[in-house]
Amino acid sequence: MVADRQQVQLGAVQETLFIPLTARARETRKKRPILRDPKAVHMVDSIDFDLARYGRDTGGLITILRTATLDVWVRDFLATHPGGTVVEIGTGLNTRFERVDNGTVRWIDLDLPGTIELRRQYFADTERRQMVAASVLDETWLETVEQQPGPYFFVAEGVLVYLPPDDVMRALARIAGRFPGALIALDSYSRRKLDQNHRVAARHSIAPWQWACDDPRSLERLGLGVVEMATTTRPPKLLRAQIPPGYRYLLPLADTIGRSIRNTLFRADRPAAR
Ligand SMILES: C[S@@+](CC[C@H](N)C(=O)[O-])C[C@H]1O[C@@H](n2cnc3c(N)ncnc32)[C@H](O)[C@@H]1O
Repeated sequence: MVADRQQVQLGAVQETLFIPLTARARETRKKRPILRDPKAVHMVDSIDFDLARYGRDTGGLITILRTATLDVWVRDFLATHPGGTVVEIGTGLNTRFERVDNGTVRWIDLDLPGTIELRRQYFADTERRQMVAASVLDETWLETVEQQPGPYFFVAEGVLVYLPPDDVMRALARIAGRFPGALIALDSYSRRKLDQNHRVAARHSIAPWQWACDDPRSLERLGLGVVEMATTTRPPKLLRAQIPPGYRYLLPLADTIGRSIRNTLFRADRPAAR
């Protein structure tokens, strides 16, 4: 019953957290889901938000493949560095910790204050896991990260695209400069995809994207070397086996769309270009 659901007040960009949340809840309810997220099902059922606006199914599979790709990369990192620290930038109501926890990882969930306030109603800090209320554009949270053991893995899923391009560059260069050797995983979208998004965002009155990136290799000038690049239609090998065969064989046929949506894993491994 909607009357029993929790009312929330969030800003327009913050409310976009309902898009991936709904996608994970929907996927979980499928017979053969690519990923399972029972907590997302619970949160979707208990929060009163505009499902028509944020719960559209279009893009659901793209979002799930993005999330699952980033899960694969984080698991891979933890297999080699079981006691390292993962920083989830713009975490929203993401449950990556629940999906990949190995019992020893340290974890920081970073998001804007209003989002963290909502998040605290469903998640609790523990000895290994803490929430930090700050903008990725601030510098203060970097000190909190430094207090945790390295090596470090920064994940920014579905967040940088909402920020002005100059801010994205500054934030990434700052992380790369302060955490040499760290891994950074993020999603990016071509200019064409951004234009498409503006039309959809205007139709549904949701926050539009701001940052487009036609080639993630262009970020190498910030001191980031590309370790692996996956398009949505050609996800990492480790993930392909989890995708139902019907989709697995059809996905490469949608390569034109796939190339405009990239998930990239970088390593902070070189001085930034001046
Ligand atoms: C589309 S949601 C993605 C949420 C989450 N990463 C996921 O995949 O479920 C975008 C998130 O970015 C957060 N966000 C937007 N601007 C931010 C900023 N400047 N600093 C930190 N987080 C930000 C929003 O509050 C929201 O939680």
